[in-house]
Amino acid sequence: MRKKIVAANWKMNLLQSDALSFLKTLRSHDLSKFPQLDVVIFPSSIFLEKMINEYVGKLGIGAQNFYFEERGAYTGEISLDQLKSINCSYVLIGHSERRTYFSESPELILNKLKAAVNKQFNSVLCIGESISVRNSANHLSFLEDQLNDSIGMLEENDIKSISIAYEPIWAIGTGLTASVEQVNEVHNFIRSFLVDRFPNLGNDVRILYGGSCNEQNAKELFSCLNVDGGLIGGASLDSDKFYQIIQAANEVSRIEY
Ligand code: PGA
Repeated sequence: MRKKIVAANWKMNLLQSDALSFLKTLRSHDLSKFPQLDVVIFPSSIFLEKMINEYVGKLGIGAQNFYFEERGAYTGEISLDQLKSINCSYVLIGHSERRTYFSESPELILNKLKAAVNKQFNSVLCIGESISVRNSANHLSFLEDQLNDSIGMLEENDIKSISIAYEPIWAIGTGLTASVEQVNEVHNFIRSFLVDRFPNLGNDVRILYGGSCNEQNAKELFSCLNVDGGLIGGASLDSDKFYQIIQAANEVSRIEY
């Protein structure tokens, strides 16, 4: 059975004091009572080390960005070895904001994915269509291209450490959540792609939903057959709302211990 993941993508939000008080609230809730969930936070990278050292217990902390080369003259960039040296174990790859605002190409995204696999990071690979692609009803073939260009280029063994986040761009930060029908259509499609391409392990890859997921709609979304959790932006900035989303994931978790 697939373990659910609840991941917070803080983007370029929160100050250090906010990040630390968020952790304090989460610690007070004691996440060890949710052994059937993975909870991960992607803060701004300047807070990574402090958050990793500050939080004693079960919480993944990941980088929103990195560069795939090992070292060298890449001003402003952070390598996976540097992230590993502070015990960071998760990375986000292919977020639509990085594709759009920072011109990350499919080639760069594939290089990042391969590097993260080689360095044994847990990766969350984001895919998602724009509103114009959705309106033209070409979303499934668009998403298939994004999958082919990324995870589809890997060997079956490489996919063990990868989760996929389906994030329709038109739902990100807009308050417009994809409907359960839309989510089911896409998540079932991604599952068939994975099982078809990777017959042994494709069923184990976790598929998260992202795009205005919040404490009100999380339970319904996480109840869908191929929704294995969420990547939460706006609603993850408030520790109480984020904790309610964790509780929603716990309630619908299909794992039996
Ligand atoms: P949102 O962002 O929850 O604010 O829509 C999700 C994301 O971009 O990961």
